[in-house]
This record gives sequence, structure tokens and C-alpha cells, in this order.
Amino acid sequence: MLTLEKTHDEARQGEAFAPFSEDPNQYSRHFYIESYGCQMNFADSEVVASILQEKGFGATRDVEKANLILLNTCSIREKAEQTVRKRLTEFKKLKKQQKGLLIGVLGCMAERLKSKLLEEEKLVDLVVGPDAYRTLPQLIEEAGTGQKAVNVLLSRDETYADISPVRIDSNGVSAYVSIMRGCNNMCSFCVVPFTRGRERSRDDRSILKECQDLFDQGYREATLLGQNVDSYHFTPETGGDAVNFAQLLEQVAKISPLLRVRFSTSHPKDITDEVLHTMARNKNICRYIHLPVQSGSTRVLQLMNRTYTREWYKAKVERIWEILPDCSITSDIISGFCTETEEDHQETLDIMRFSRYDFSYMFFYSERPGTLAQRRYADDIPESVKKERLQQIVHLQNELSLASNKKDIGKVFEVLIEGNSKRDENAWMGRSSQNKVIIFPKTLEGLQPGDYVHVKVEQCSQATLLGNIVSTI
Ligand code: 5AD
Ligand code: SF4
Repeated sequence: MLTLEKTHDEARQGEAFAPFSEDPNQYSRHFYIESYGCQMNFADSEVVASILQEKGFGATRDVEKANLILLNTCSIREKAEQTVRKRLTEFKKLKKQQKGLLIGVLGCMAERLKSKLLEEEKLVDLVVGPDAYRTLPQLIEEAGTGQKAVNVLLSRDETYADISPVRIDSNGVSAYVSIMRGCNNMCSFCVVPFTRGRERSRDDRSILKECQDLFDQGYREATLLGQNVDSYHFTPETGGDAVNFAQLLEQVAKISPLLRVRFSTSHPKDITDEVLHTMARNKNICRYIHLPVQSGSTRVLQLMNRTYTREWYKAKVERIWEILPDCSITSDIISGFCTETEEDHQETLDIMRFSRYDFSYMFFYSERPGTLAQRRYADDIPESVKKERLQQIVHLQNELSLASNKKDIGKVFEVLIEGNSKRDENAWMGRSSQNKVIIFPKTLEGLQPGDYVHVKVEQCSQATLLGNIVSTI
């Protein structure tokens, strides 16, 4: 599962974005897009931008200038869906003012709500699922003639391998690269296998080409994305050896020592020693593993269909530290899953302390229609209890993040500069290999985003490290 909207990233904060064309007059028609949910949705919006640009649509940040408004949606929790519905109602008002304006829903809500959005509520003109973006130009034409345009078919083999994403709202330093789609895991709380379909891996040659192109354009960080990257497995149709995730990682890392490689997300059951050793051998593969635990109770993990126990998870964390002593570990945690007792909850707090997470994405359980949990178990924990437990989880995570940052004071990190600090344009914002944000004054001339520097950490808050440059690289 991929990490979600609430990031600790200074640079990538926010739930929505709109891309833009460098030259607004270059195109006769314009689209405006907002993305919600996981990184994969943001990456998909870049594929959509490429498909639309090819057909003569330029991107705009100004919703009033758009002929086409697209919302790339998320279904993971009820709240994400509510946010999108609210936004659609706002856009419906615009439709009355702008003749010919088309509104489309992309992504995970498309499959679930197609008839509702199109017919009952008449909120949108087109509905396009995650595997049907190639048909967008045709659907736009159909919608333009007043027909309701829908394609929510899921595919067994679509990976958009040949499409070069148009980088939108990019800092020019870091980019997402999608390496696979869908998920076969069937965690009982999760709607993703239903909205995004079966797992399939993208041709490694097209991934390598995209990463090489990014590097040649000046990018210095590629994050390889998949719901479960450790099960990446590509077999060339023309014969030849299959490529697994560790091999793919190594190939991407070999593009250049100056290209940082990250990946997300790892499933604790699938991350292998081979991946950990590949990381250890290649210093440019970042010391950062997002390893969602979801719950610390073996009984709850079983109900969640996570296929590991509390002990297995702890052993995996210890293995990571053994092979990669300076590796940061982060997590996703759900409070109040079906039947969760106070004792189960205490086990979650306990495994958080054990794993010393640097950061977690934390949620209370939200029952999703069609999932295994919805069909099998009662959503029996009162909302007040879910929220109280979540608050305790958040409180503990804040303590762990601060403790982890305090341990960094006095240490020197290799930092990739991403841009200006949001709060102070006389300071840079960059990131350590462990994915921690570091802010430091611009004491040296001639540096720019994409450069590496050594920074000594002097102070910290729970979210950020503050330091000074000690040398360039
Ligand atoms: N309720 C709450 N959180 C959920 N997640 C996935 N499905 C649900 C749900 N139904 C969380 C998991 C996952 C993250 C991306 O979102 O923690 O790892
Ligand atoms: Fe992630 Fe499990 Fe959902 Fe797959 S089913 S996307 S592994 S949470």
C-alpha cells in the first residue's frame, strides 16, 4: 500500500495540485487536474497529462481557464470520498457559468461510484478508471457531444509502460516512477484490489529508460512506486530472465551514484534479504523503508489478512537494522479495526516503541464497501474509541519522531537540496537519505537544487532538522 496524502514532506504537502503549461498560448484547449490520495495517483496524473498533451490539451493552474476539469480520486477512506464530492459540487456551479466545460472523475472512485456520479447526482460528464486513461481523448469527444462517457474496465496488463509522464508541479529534483499497478494482497480493510485490480509489473527496460531520462534532465531522485514493490516481477515476452525487485533496484541505482533511489511501499511479508543487501551495497539507495505494520496484535493482523504475526514483523525490523544500521523505518497504522480490544491497542503502541518509527501515517478504521472486512466482520468499535486510540497513537508517534530527531543532533548528513525553505528564502530545504527534511542557511554561493551538501544538524523539532553546511560534495 502506498503512503497517503498527509506527508511530512515540506515540498510535497497538500492534497491537491494543478499542473501548468509553460506557454499557456501553445494550446487551444486546457485541462485542470487535482489529485487526491496516494503517490500512485499523483504519478497517474502525470500519465494523464501526457496523454492529454499529445491530443492538444495544455495544463492550467487556473480552474476558470479550463475546458476540462479532472479529479483524480481516492476511495481508501470515507473521508477521502467526501472531500471529492464536496469539490464536485463546487465545480458544478462553475459549469453553469462556463459553456462547454466538462468535468471528469478519474481514479479509484470511478469504478465504485460511476452510476451514482453520472446518473443520480449528475455531477460529472466522464468517469474513467485507473486502467482506462488511454481512452480519455475518445471519452472527452463523446462527453463533448452530450453523451455520458464511461470506461472503468480494469486490465490485467496495462502499465502505461510506453508513456513518458509529463512532470507536473515538479521541483525538478525528485520524481515518481511507477513500476507496477494493482495489488493481489487482499488485506481485509482495503479497497485497492477492487479499485485498481490485479497486480502487474512494468517492463524493466521502460523503467530504466524513464529513470535515465530523468537523470539526464537533471533530476536526482527517483521514487519507484507500487502498492507492494517487493513483489515486482517482470518476465520479458521475448524470453530471457525474469527480473525481481532487488535486481530492478540495483539496475536503477547503477544509472549514476548521483541518482538517489527510493521506493514505496514494502509489505513486511515480502521484503527480502536480497533487497536489504542490495541497499547495503548501493549507497545511493536511500536508507529508508516504509514498512506498514497496520496493527501490533497478531490476532488483529490475522483478521486484517496481513499474513504475518507480531513476532515476524519485529524480526523483520531487527533484520533491517542488522543489515542497514542507519535505516529509517516508517509505518501505516490503523486504530479501531473490527473487534480490536484495549489489549490489542496496547500491543500496537508497544510495537511502535519497539520499531522506533521515524514517522507514521495514522488512521482510524473506515469500513469500505465490498472489502473482505465489510463482508465478514462487524465494524463494532465505537467511533469515539477509534478516535481516542488514534490520538494515543499520534501522541506516541510525535514522541518517537522527536526522540529520533534529537539523536541526529551533532551528526553530519549528506543532503540533496530540493529548493528554498518554505518559510525562509535565505535557507535551503533538502533531505537526508533517511528522508528527513533538513533546513539550513544559504551560507555558500553557487549551490542550486539538485546539488548535494554535507550538513551538520544543530537543532530539531519533531518534524524538521535544522543545521549548517559543513562541506560540498
Ligand atoms: N480504513 C482506514 N485506513 C485504511 N487504510 C487502507 N484502508 C483503510 C481503511 N479502510 C490505510 C492503511 C494503508 C494506508 C495507505 O491506508 O494503513 O496502509
Ligand atoms: Fe496495500 Fe494491502 Fe491494500 Fe494491497 S490490499 S494496497 S498491500 S493495504
